[in-house]
Amino acid sequence: MPIIALRGETDWDGWRAAVRALVLTGIPPEAVGFTVDPARHAPPPEAAGGFAVPRALIALAAQAIQARDPGRFALLYDLVWRAHAGAPVLEDRADPALRRAGRLAYAVRAEAHRMRAALRYLDAEGRWVGWYAPRHFVLEANARLLAQWFPDRPTSILTPDAGAHWDAAGPRFGPGVAAAAVPDDAALVGLWANFGAELLATAGPGFGLPPAEVFEEPRHAPDAARPFPVVLPVALDPDLAAAAEDAAGCARCPLAGPATQTVFGEGPAAPRLMLIGEQAGDQEDVIGRPFVGPAGQLLDRALEEAGIDRRAVWVSNVVKHFKFTWQGKRRLHQTPQAAEIEACRFWLDVERVRLRPPLLVLLGATAARALLGRAVTVGRERGRVLRLPDGAPALVTVHPSFLLRVPDAAAQAREYAAFVADLRVASGYAG
Ligand code: URA
Repeated sequence: MPIIALRGETDWDGWRAAVRALVLTGIPPEAVGFTVDPARHAPPPEAAGGFAVPRALIALAAQAIQARDPGRFALLYDLVWRAHAGAPVLEDRADPALRRAGRLAYAVRAEAHRMRAALRYLDAEGRWVGWYAPRHFVLEANARLLAQWFPDRPTSILTPDAGAHWDAAGPRFGPGVAAAAVPDDAALVGLWANFGAELLATAGPGFGLPPAEVFEEPRHAPDAARPFPVVLPVALDPDLAAAAEDAAGCARCPLAGPATQTVFGEGPAAPRLMLIGEQAGDQEDVIGRPFVGPAGQLLDRALEEAGIDRRAVWVSNVVKHFKFTWQGKRRLHQTPQAAEIEACRFWLDVERVRLRPPLLVLLGATAARALLGRAVTVGRERGRVLRLPDGAPALVTVHPSFLLRVPDAAAQAREYAAFVADLRVASGYAG
């Protein structure tokens, strides 16, 4: 039986070229095998002619080929072979091969999403470097998508299978890094300092996979015109990392349905402060991290001015899903209801109990009301340390998105200065 040797686990171009040649030379699925072996890879012989398969099948194959399942190449060839012969493979929902491919594609989409949400980056001399161990081979397609979203941010994502890099020269792919080599953030920075140049130099064009989501329903990609959110390096406390995983599947209230994902808090294991906002916003929902959109950028600037390193604080929200309503193609923020806040309190409590921050900074009326357990007029109670009903110290201030809405520049400057002053009080208290 001829064996097709592909160049890599996601050799999309290689698989397509092989499948085209196999179909055109009349070799059925049962007469051929597939393996991944770059050393034995050979381009398929030229075959004259052509044929078409439904675009939806190509879409399915482009996703399912990223599954960590050795049988996927043959499975997908079987579908292409039958589709080329005119069988209505996509229409027969009971077709076992179609169902299996559908399950693989689903798992790949879920993992691609999870990877984008879970990735943390460290600043390694101007390049953002992250490490992640994906359950499926989603690195290339994901990196192509992220490189489109954030082209101006030189980034390298390392996984045990491969590495992806992008900058002005566009996306490139190369060797990966084993988990044992990067036990913690410091090791990752050290590894990059020692081997980063080599990893970049050995990277090549990849296997031609389309960016993740190309074949999916358009989601809520950040508007290209918006600046890249400031994303700061964080290492999640292992217990909180486990809680974050659990929260990812949270369905304690109906907000989980329409939202893209749970946006758990993030920060160091022993934070100086815990900042609590209202709920994930539009960009937070897409990226999977709190305060990375416009309000987050303003918050970052104010923290810096107040002398607070964002890497030293835990940033979270009262409600961990984005609540919105559609207006045309735009998703408009909606204030969460008391029941939604109550349902989500579980996760906030997990964060608080685990982190025991010296001071909570309650950003805006929703967070203040949720934690103080009473109506709060922010203007009256801001800027001084209060006690929550459970005795924990907390400081109320405005929400950064309030500052974004102040209409005139002079008032905005005043409000911003007052916000920074509140943060300085918080910083002084936390020591
Ligand atoms: N507003 C919030 O309250 N939280 C976020 O994470 C983003 C915007």
